[in-house]
Amino acid sequence: MPQTLIVVEHPVLADRLTVLRNRDTPHGDFRQALYEAAAIMAVEVARDLPVKEVEIETPLEPTKGLRLRDEVAVVPVLRAGLGMVEGFLRLLPDARVGHVGIYRDEEDHVPVDYYERLPRGIANARVYLLDPMLATGGSAVAALDKLKGAGAKRLELVCLVAAPQGIEAVKDGHPKVRIWTAAVDRELDENAYIRPGLGDAGDRVFGTA
Ligand code: PRP
Ligand code: URA
Repeated sequence: MPQTLIVVEHPVLADRLTVLRNRDTPHGDFRQALYEAAAIMAVEVARDLPVKEVEIETPLEPTKGLRLRDEVAVVPVLRAGLGMVEGFLRLLPDARVGHVGIYRDEEDHVPVDYYERLPRGIANARVYLLDPMLATGGSAVAALDKLKGAGAKRLELVCLVAAPQGIEAVKDGHPKVRIWTAAVDRELDENAYIRPGLGDAGDRVFGTA
């Protein structure tokens, strides 16, 4: 069984994550740090993308090279996942972008699904589901259900801060989906916020707090 939880260790990622966690970080700096953290995650998660050999000509002679073999799709969970898209597209400019809209009900924290627009060809693509926060895991499990329902088979979940409960929920619901994160935090509080966490990611990235 492949490793399902990968905690990415990188000094620049750790630095960016601390900026994200800091309550004094204004939304513009938060957005920038989220972009940079996502770009580092993109490099890590893309390491095992399959390549194909191609023949090309340099200005001097024919040679062989490697190109990415498959389509890649990135799918942010609205809203906070949107803040990770640009970092992924810097590395993977040809990726298609799907969107899923899911928010947690404030009272019972159950995910509410409100939007879906996915690229064609998702069944054959490597699909990266993007959401910085994995708390109860309800939103991620619901988003993965939708993607599988649309035919996606090669799915990876990329977050930045994960709670143990969310990791367990994804492992239970989608045992073959790898979870990439920058940190595993201590716990969820009584409002299902991650502690120490970084607060409400969607509000912080869009300045709506
Ligand atoms: C946040 C976050 C995740 C979800 C995680 O979104 O971006 O999607 O909560 O929580 P869970 O693991 O318990 O489901 P939120 O519901 O705040 O939506 P918003 O960004 O649109 O406000
Ligand atoms: N969603 C967030 O944005 N933050 C949390 O801590 C939990 C869920």
